[in-house]
Amino acid sequence: MERTLIILKPDCVQRGLCGAVLERFERRGFQIAAMKMMRLSRRLLEEHYAHLKGKPFFESLVEFMSSSPVVVAIIEGKDAVEIVRKMCGATNARNAENGTIRGDFALSTQCNIIHASDSKETAKKEIERFFKEDEIFSYERLLGKFTYSKDERE
Ligand code: PPS
Repeated sequence: MERTLIILKPDCVQRGLCGAVLERFERRGFQIAAMKMMRLSRRLLEEHYAHLKGKPFFESLVEFMSSSPVVVAIIEGKDAVEIVRKMCGATNARNAENGTIRGDFALSTQCNIIHASDSKETAKKEIERFFKEDEIFSYERLLGKFTYSKDERE
């Protein structure tokens, strides 16, 4: 099954919305393969956001992302990267559709609740950046056969 990385950002933790956001992924049928709370260091954030270095909002973004602990998690399921991104909605939460996470919980481009990997390649790199092998769990859920058909599970 495909895996993707999410970060519940400082605004999500501070506003007490972690449970509400994770519930959406679980209710959709996704499985949590790993999860932990971390305070992100400047070094880690400079690596994670290296592609944004030079943007006018870079310093503000790094400061914001280190302003509170965050929750990082790996979400697992068929086509997880694409579906999780869709569930998050547009980066600028003011443009996000109602029914998406950002569209329902946020109004900002920076304080937009959640980060999610934007491609399979990025997901692989981001999972390696945030998790050690022994922090990631492969397990079968008893209700698996009510989430996917036999063909889809293989
Ligand atoms: S880009 O390069 O502008 O298209 O960036 P984008 O992929 O849309 O967003 C990448 C992350 O940068 C954050 N971002 C901002 N933060 C503060 N101010 C502004 N104006 C801003 N624009 C983008 C945005 O929340 C994204 O964070 P992640 O963690 O990747 O979701």
